[in-house]
Amino acid sequence: FSYPLPANEPVLNYAPGSKEREQLKATLAQLKSEQIEIPMYIGAEKVYTKNRVPIHPPHERNFILGYFSRGDKKHVQQAIDAALAAKEQWAAMSWENRANIFLKAADLIATKYRFHMNGATMLGQSKNAYQAEIDSACEIIDFLRFNVHYLSEIYKQQPISSPGMHNRVEYRPLEGFVLAVTPFNFTAIGGNLPTSAAMCGNVVVWKPADTQVYSAQMFMRILKEAGLPDGVINLIYVDGPELGDVCFNHKDFAGVHFTGSTCVFNTMWETIGRNIGKYKSYPRIVGETGGKDFVIAHKSADPDVLVTALLRGAFEYQGQKCSAASRAYIPSNIAKEVKKKLVDGVRSFKMGTVEDFSNFINAVIDEKSFDKIKGYIDRAKKDKDATILVGGDYDKKEGYFISPTIIETKNPQYVTMCEEIFGPVLTLYVYPANQFEKTLELVNQTSPYALTGSIIATDRYAVELATQKLSNAAGNFYINDKPTGAVVGQQPFGGGRASGTNDKAGSMLNLYRWLSARTIKETF
Ligand code: ALA
Repeated sequence: FSYPLPANEPVLNYAPGSKEREQLKATLAQLKSEQIEIPMYIGAEKVYTKNRVPIHPPHERNFILGYFSRGDKKHVQQAIDAALAAKEQWAAMSWENRANIFLKAADLIATKYRFHMNGATMLGQSKNAYQAEIDSACEIIDFLRFNVHYLSEIYKQQPISSPGMHNRVEYRPLEGFVLAVTPFNFTAIGGNLPTSAAMCGNVVVWKPADTQVYSAQMFMRILKEAGLPDGVINLIYVDGPELGDVCFNHKDFAGVHFTGSTCVFNTMWETIGRNIGKYKSYPRIVGETGGKDFVIAHKSADPDVLVTALLRGAFEYQGQKCSAASRAYIPSNIAKEVKKKLVDGVRSFKMGTVEDFSNFINAVIDEKSFDKIKGYIDRAKKDKDATILVGGDYDKKEGYFISPTIIETKNPQYVTMCEEIFGPVLTLYVYPANQFEKTLELVNQTSPYALTGSIIATDRYAVELATQKLSNAAGNFYINDKPTGAVVGQQPFGGGRASGTNDKAGSMLNLYRWLSARTIKETF
């Protein structure tokens, strides 16, 4: 049997007056009226604690959506125990019965809980309806369906045999438990990291960012409704250091599936390295971390293609995508026109709450993030080698709002050309149009990251040169497009260097990391 290649889930557009828009609005109102108490999910238990943490929409910081129960080290240990208790039965379940749980979860999102998933992502993470739709509906559904397909293809791969001998490979789960740690910026990463490992027969402890809990628990409830047995995925809300203390000291720690900052990933790796003698097996360490993603235009670039790539690449979801365009290299021949169109474009954006569907820009995730982004903007206001072309305002009275901001610098090593900001800030550097090759070298050398990047050019030799020279500068490389918006099954996603282990999410490369093969030879 096999699971054929699925089609991508179609994107709904929530046009004014559409039925979907009305349904989504009604769901937003319903979610806001619920004041939900969110437990941790450990084995068969829903665990509530006295440490109730309020959840605020980032764009409406004085409103309380509900509370989640924060746990501590004891809950980490309980989650590991529950995972290990579920392991034997889960690993022994037939592939088709395992797979169908995830396919059912995808169908439940597509047909029954789409507006709930999107509503939770809009309110909890301040995404507009379109950004939520492509994340918490389409991308999660795609991850689930495509991973089932890819895994069924992996299971079919078998070695050759010959007369008198039979060979086979068993694709077993890892020995122990897998830790999944997920960020706020994509509900779909929360959907993918625990389930891709679980699908392979592993048991999982899942810790989302505090700012993702609201949508994460919604997905967890859907997995349960789809029939996921107790203990296979255990969802806990604890501090990172407490989580690490228990998980990375545990003999049954088998791997970590991580998306988050480079700094946290490095600390995890060092801790795992120090403890390496404690584990039964070498753990799998899979991470997608930071980015400082570039767009370089050649003098042959179509200015409108470049402007669209930058406006969408830099400012959709307030620039809080690890793939967001944040440094642009513009050739002098088109610089004046491009700068004017960028400034006009930014001025046309509306900013505000997610409930007004005409807002393109919403709030950044929290106060810490707001302060960090504001710091870069304030610095650019003072620095001699930076000029703010548009934006530069911020206000956190109602919510964490930062105007989309474009900085121009004459210094290609200026701080906002080099450091990850994770907010709506784009920095431009105008280079002499005849120095394309030299500028490619600059793009390659300027940042330690290598997640995404784009070349905008109509000259095919320029496209070829950029593709070759930037070979290691981006795991996802785009020609005449923005560097964001990878689609499962179309552009496997991930980067190298300081951006992670490049184990492409939503692909066979990723699934292999959660399998430990046994080769069996029999002679007769
Ligand atoms: N996969 C996300 C994107 O490509 C991060 O934008």
